[in-house]
Order: sequence, then structure tokens, then C-alpha cells
Amino acid sequence: MRVLFVSSEVAPLIKTGGLADVSAALPSALRRLGDDVRVLMPGYSQVLRALESFKVEAFFSGVDEFPNFRLFASVLPDGVPLWVIDCPELFQRDGGIYQDGKGKDWPDNALRFGLLSKVAAILGGTESPVEWKPEVVHCNDWQTGLTPAYMHFSPGSAPCVMTVHNLAFQGVFPPQMVSELALPAESFHPHGAEFYGNLSFLKAGLYYANHVTTVSPTYAEEIQTEALGFGLQGLLKNRSKSLTGILNGIDDSEWNPASDPALTQAYTAQKMAGKAANKRALQKHMGLQVDAEVPLFGLVSRFTHQKGVDIVLEIAPQLIADHAQLVLLGSGDATMQSDAMELARNFPGQVAVMIGFDEGLSHLIEAGSDIFLMPSRFEPCGLNQMYSQRYGTPPIVHATGGLVDSVVDYNEATLDKGEATGFVFDDMTPQGLLSCAQRAATTYRDKKVWSALQFNGMSKDFGWQKSAEKYHEIYASLSDSV
Ligand code: ADP
Ligand code: GLC
Repeated sequence: MRVLFVSSEVAPLIKTGGLADVSAALPSALRRLGDDVRVLMPGYSQVLRALESFKVEAFFSGVDEFPNFRLFASVLPDGVPLWVIDCPELFQRDGGIYQDGKGKDWPDNALRFGLLSKVAAILGGTESPVEWKPEVVHCNDWQTGLTPAYMHFSPGSAPCVMTVHNLAFQGVFPPQMVSELALPAESFHPHGAEFYGNLSFLKAGLYYANHVTTVSPTYAEEIQTEALGFGLQGLLKNRSKSLTGILNGIDDSEWNPASDPALTQAYTAQKMAGKAANKRALQKHMGLQVDAEVPLFGLVSRFTHQKGVDIVLEIAPQLIADHAQLVLLGSGDATMQSDAMELARNFPGQVAVMIGFDEGLSHLIEAGSDIFLMPSRFEPCGLNQMYSQRYGTPPIVHATGGLVDSVVDYNEATLDKGEATGFVFDDMTPQGLLSCAQRAATTYRDKKVWSALQFNGMSKDFGWQKSAEKYHEIYASLSDSV
């Protein structure tokens, strides 16, 4: 299958979260299955700087109201062909890829991601200047949501798959953007791209795509309910026959404790000795007391309400009083950041906080911690809980979305069956998290049970192959039906 995979972030070129990891690993896994996948993304300054070489594939002028732009052809580090939209006016600037340096959304985001959506639609349509023609266009999240709409109104276009990585982000803009982005007026309708009087990129994608997927089976059910549907549950329920939940995999060559260059010492499920050296290194690096026995809880996360970082901060003093250490890496919400810093000041040697984005440190936290914290209020899939299982660091997770689909709670029965890999709690309150964390800390002291949890997690297959096969089946069924 020839597949155009469209994403606003792709690791290692640019990453703000799990979407970038998936946009790197899934195309690569699909190519291993024999699909001809090419990735399309915006040419942010960071991306153009990171590309080793590229050639100009096409030049575009007079596309609707968009500035002139070029399409560069290059290749990702693992060999996947890459197309980058070079439009300096929209993509080359200092600051984040979605927000300015002060954390405010760029005012022209509708135009920026309207262009990404438009280019995908052109490449998947009948008037593409590029020789390679996709049989399916695979869109990801709201930034690509207008692609299925543009393609729906361009007869002869390839079918589209729309993957929801997080329904909380919808790309909602004022109604005048409909004409500015040259969408047909008839698309601005509750049965279309309109969301309560505004233009919703994500809704357009969900409405017009030929098939919708999301990143875990449980989240696919949850988004059809009022609690987690963010106002789109009705539409998603209507589309339930063409809505599939496919659990993300992980890049198991990048996230592998046997070969990870960010670790002090390598280790495997059979030879665990090196894990202790990483704990020591992490404690030293972060200014924690070096103590092999104390249970060390780790967290790597965007600091947002979604991730439950606030309740971690709330229970931290009690955890420390029970004799534990805590290391936190992340950034986002200003109050959460300052609360975390204050906690570190109040508990020197016991709590360490790094505000920022640090890929190497995130690997060391996965390896050097004993227990990983991921108490998300909702979680479409989540990758860190899978990384932590692979690194012999049993996770604590809230029973939601992809977390329930990828972590097996420890109890006698699951232990006997060799399935237990972590700790799952239902009650999303500070008390609920605290009792689960206490249960994990007690279990940590039972070395026999703990080794079994570590072994089960490290032996589990979190690779992409099975999930990539499911995507392939969807692509094939769509192209058969055209
Ligand atoms: P989300 O995409 O919702 O943020 P995921 O668990 O799917 O959640 O993916 C998050 C990814 O971003 C993981 O690879 C995680 O390690 C990484 N990450 C998040 N925050 C940081 C950070 N501060 N530094 C380094 N990596 C981070
Ligand atoms: C989103 C979700 C996360 C998921 C990631 C990759 O950012 O919040 O749960 O793992 O996308 O699909």
C-alpha cells in the first residue's frame, strides 16, 4: 500500500509528546511490513536545522489564500521518506511549534495547520504535481483534520484515515476561517465541520474521514461517552462501525535497556544488576540521597490536568514521610511547575524536580526509578507506562484508556498467571493514588514478587508489529472499497 502519513510532529526532528514518537515508529513498522509509507510534516525551523539534506520536490503558488511554499523531499533517520512543507512565513519562527515562548497559541494556527491539511489533500488528490500517489492518506489529530474535508469535496481523491491521539485538543477557530481556508460553505454545518458556531478541525476530520481510529481499544469506547467525548460523543457513536481502537506500540530499539546510550549501565530481564547502577546515577544526577533500598518513584510528563500531576504533588509529603523518594521531569502548567519546585525545596534529598524537556533524562528516569507514576485522569494510550514496564520499573496507573489496556494490576491471581506488571487504581482522588502508591511501596519490599513484576513487564511484547498489521488491514479495506 502507498500511504501518506501526515503529522504535525515527528521524532527525533521535533517532539512535544507521544504523537511524535508514534509518527516516527508507526511508518517505520509499516514499511517493515512492506507498505510504501511517506511522512508529511511542516518545515519548522527546528526541522529544517535537523535535516541533513533535502531536495526541492515542488513549488506551489496561488493555492487558495496561502502564502507560496515549497515541498522538500528528505528522509527520516530510519530510512522513511519524508516530505517537509517549506513555508517560512508560517513555520519558521522562534518559540514552540504550537505556541509562542510565553505559552500562548500562535494566532495564525488555523492557517498554519490549514496549510498542512491542504498539502496532504493536494498530494492525495488528482491534481498533485508529485509523481508518487498515495492509495490512502493517514491523518493524525486536529492539525490534519481539514484534510478529509478538502478531500471529500475533491472527487477522485484517495480515502482517508483519521487517528485521534487526544480528543481534548480539537483545533476550534472562528467561523470566518471557513472562507479564509477555502472550505466549501456547505461543510460548515453540524453534519460537517461546524462545532457550535465555530470551525472545528478535528470534527471535520472525524466527520469526513473514511475511517476513524484511536490509540487504544478502551479509549475508543470512552470517547463515545459524555464523560470523555468532549462534546463529540454523538458523532463518534454514529461512526462506531468505522471507529477502531488500536493500541500504540513502542519503538523497542530506542527504548531498550540493553542498548540505551542514555543509561549508565545496560541490563536485561535476565541480568538485572545494571538497574541498580542507574538508580544510583539518577539519585546522584538529581541531588537525591544515594540509597539503594528506598523506593524511588519517577514521573515524566506534560504538566497538565490530564496527567494528574496535581494529585501527585498533593500526596508527595505523605509518600516521603512513609520513606520514599520522588523524581519529576516535565513542564507545562505554571502553578504545577511552581508547586513542584516548592516541594523539591521542602524535601531536599528526597524530592528532585527538573522543569523542561530532556530526552536523555527521561530515559534515565525510566531506568533508575523503582516505580513509575502515571495517574492520568484520561489517557488515550500513553507511552511512558509501556517504556517503564520495558525498563523493569512497574507503573502505577489510573484505570483509564490505554493505561488499562497495557498494564495488568498485581494480585495473587495475576501473579500466578505470570501476567501482573504494575498497579492499577480506580478511585481518581489523592487518597486513591496514595493507597495505590503505598501498596506498590510495600510490594517493592517483597523482592520475590517485585522481581516477578519486573520480569513480566520486561518480557511483554510492546513492539509495533501487531498494531501496524491492524492499520494495514484498515488501509487495504478502504482501498478495496474505492
Ligand atoms: P502525551 O503524548 O499525552 O504527552 P505519551 O505518554 O503518549 O503522552 O507520550 C509522552 C512522550 O513525551 C513520551 O515519550 C515521554 O517520555 C515524553 N516526554 C514528556 N515530557 C517529557 C519531558 N519533560 N522530557 C522528555 N520527554 C518527555
Ligand atoms: C496523545 C495522548 C497519549 C498518546 C499519544 C500518542 O498525546 O495524550 O495518550 O499515547 O498521543 O498516541
